[in-house]
Amino acid sequence: MPLALKRLELELSLQPVVVIRKRWHLGGQAKSESAHWYIVKSSGQPEEKRRPEASADSDLTRLGHITARPYNSSGVDTHPFSIPTHHFPTPLPDHYSEEKGLPWQSVGIDGRPSTRPSLLASLLDRPDLHREALVTMINTPLTEKLGLRVPLVQGGMQWVGTPALAAAVSNAGALGTLTALTQPSPEALRKAIRETKSLISEDIRKEREGKYGSFAVNITLLPSINPPDYVGYAKAALEEGVRIFETAGNNPGEVIKVVKAAGAYVIHKCTAVRHARSAERLGADMLSIDGFECAGHPGEDDIGGLVLMARAAEELKIPFIASGGIANGQGLASALALGAVGANMGTRFMCTKEAEIHDNIKRAIVESDERNTTHIFRTLRNTARVFKAAINFVSLHLALHCVDRAATPSQGPFIGDEPRDSNRSSSDQSTAGAVTVEPSTVDQPGHDPNKPPDPKRASQEREIELQRQATKEGAVELLGTRDPDSYALQEEHQRKWNAWGLAKSYLNDEIDHTAANVPLAWQAFLTGMVDMLLYSRSQVWLGFQTGNMVQFSSNIAQFIIPGVERQPLLTLLRILSVIGFFLGSLVGFQLGRRIGHQKRSWLILSSVIQSAFLFGGAGILLSRPKNELPSFDWYPGVIVLVAFSMGMQSILAQKLVSPAFATTVAFTATLTQIASDPYLFHLVPSEKTRGRDRRMLAVLALCVGAGVGESLLHTSANLSGGIAISAGFKLVLALLWLVPEGKKSNTAKASKA
Ligand SMILES: Cc1cc2nc3c(=O)[nH]c(=O)nc-3n(C[C@H](O)[C@H](O)[C@H](O)COP(=O)(O)O)c2cc1C
Repeated sequence: MPLALKRLELELSLQPVVVIRKRWHLGGQAKSESAHWYIVKSSGQPEEKRRPEASADSDLTRLGHITARPYNSSGVDTHPFSIPTHHFPTPLPDHYSEEKGLPWQSVGIDGRPSTRPSLLASLLDRPDLHREALVTMINTPLTEKLGLRVPLVQGGMQWVGTPALAAAVSNAGALGTLTALTQPSPEALRKAIRETKSLISEDIRKEREGKYGSFAVNITLLPSINPPDYVGYAKAALEEGVRIFETAGNNPGEVIKVVKAAGAYVIHKCTAVRHARSAERLGADMLSIDGFECAGHPGEDDIGGLVLMARAAEELKIPFIASGGIANGQGLASALALGAVGANMGTRFMCTKEAEIHDNIKRAIVESDERNTTHIFRTLRNTARVFKAAINFVSLHLALHCVDRAATPSQGPFIGDEPRDSNRSSSDQSTAGAVTVEPSTVDQPGHDPNKPPDPKRASQEREIELQRQATKEGAVELLGTRDPDSYALQEEHQRKWNAWGLAKSYLNDEIDHTAANVPLAWQAFLTGMVDMLLYSRSQVWLGFQTGNMVQFSSNIAQFIIPGVERQPLLTLLRILSVIGFFLGSLVGFQLGRRIGHQKRSWLILSSVIQSAFLFGGAGILLSRPKNELPSFDWYPGVIVLVAFSMGMQSILAQKLVSPAFATTVAFTATLTQIASDPYLFHLVPSEKTRGRDRRMLAVLALCVGAGVGESLLHTSANLSGGIAISAGFKLVLALLWLVPEGKKSNTAKASKA
């Protein structure tokens, strides 16, 4: 057997499925519309649909045999799978140039490129020859750039991306990744890098010479109060000769800068196209896009890989790798078809012999099904997809936190984060294969200690205890190899992050306007107050721009009609009020769009900005001598600042709730809505009269505000003091936005109910 074939066989065992492109040739012209894709099993023998044995038996050279979901049960060797060509991204991403052709090529039985694809395709119909037909190289910018044999990357995995696994993956022809933060310090990372190097096979080392090296180092930038020394880790890796980096997490700019300056190749992993574009701008060479299916942190957008990859293919200029939920060759095939240059896998690599994880964990993953993962930390906006169990140990670093709590799982930090499926008993969950630990009933309310134990329950409890023990042992075994102090630190870090995360989540929550009557009424009150204060003194409306425009038009008419008295200052002030209001709305709209029009953080920030502008207006007024008449020199400044503030308030209210609760303008509309409300004359307030009541509250608040404004004009506060008080009231408004319930907490309540 020729050497090339031998080598490819090895590769194929890593790729249980390969893709062969078949083109029908009509009159010498390839007709792309009729192109078909064939997905073919790599195994020489028809594979039975069976659950794999314990994954601990697997190793990287046998990946194809332990797939958790055998893909072809038909017993037929070839499984034609037609994907219409329009599913291939059109136009092709830039990195697939016409000259280079498509990302993979068919090669003949001796490993040489086949010039007759139709002949190759016909081989597929001959089971005895199909093995040879499978000899397919998949060349993409990923394999070419990094000298890989297969377009596969093992993503960084904290506690899992150790030298043994990273080296094994690279030795199998893919890209292995060492995870920097698994090591407690940059110094420890140096040691791990040296160990990985010593495990890399001579073949691979030679093959990747002149490229960027044999393996990568992952640097994950996590939200943290005391961030680790990311740049220190990066520099240590560079000094040890590493030239491929996978960055992930928060703004990787600094790390990218440092490693790029040393000539390294950067693959940035992220979960959103917009983040990918930022990384592109920051200088990443390639992207790894994690769909919602991925283990670890899938981001907060909840976009599945299918959509995300299609969008990435449209938007990105540099090549990208698809990641999340990919576990076999079919996944790789779909990734390539979606325009990716390869696939990144995490969970799948955990189930290899080389992953330094307890067998129980591997077994649990392999035996699980598609329902066995769940999300935690959603409310902290730090969502993580983990194995669904009372002790969620797929994310091993989480499991390590749980180790001491294994005996009392109901107190574990990751338990009960998600509502349990109450329709499934613990035994149900066990049969689904998950290592599920239900909290003990012993200490639960309603438990009667005098009642004889239910034998079924007792046997369940025993089983649970066994599982719990196994889980604990799994984690302890791992823990035994690590520095226990670092876990104490992580605990501490996690605790702090929880508090900060909660605060952040609260600020990022969107306000449910139906719960925000108090701040909205307060806004309407302030409109009445400010408008009345300034209108009384300047005859210019700051909030009611309709009135302003009408009066401005009448000023213009005065200029045209001969013999009529003209009011140049007033005309100017009125147009400045419109301009200031417009600018306030515009800036408010743009900022609100970026932050989120209904987010609590924006409502607070906007109120603070509005207050600052009011204080500005008050400052100008206070700096003038008392009783000085308004002049061109300074009065226009007051009008513009205050109108800006009102414009910003107006857009805030409009995007949050309008027209159900007018706070600046549209009171005319509010009045007509009240008049036409079918429940106008219902005396007793109820759910039905809610709209009417809110509108009446808005009108009432406005009128009270106007009354207060007028009163202030007759006190020593006068106009300047009145505007300063309004500015102070605006700061109170910023605080009031902390009160209403957010949409997320409402949803949580509803789902609990
Ligand atoms: C146990 C575990 C730990 C992980 N830790 C990290 C990490 O520290 N940094 C990182 O960038 N990605 C991490 N990931 C994500 C993987 O690199 C990869 O993007 C993801 O697992 C892909 O999804 P898949 O598991 O469905 O293949 C982790 C994944 C797992 C399963």
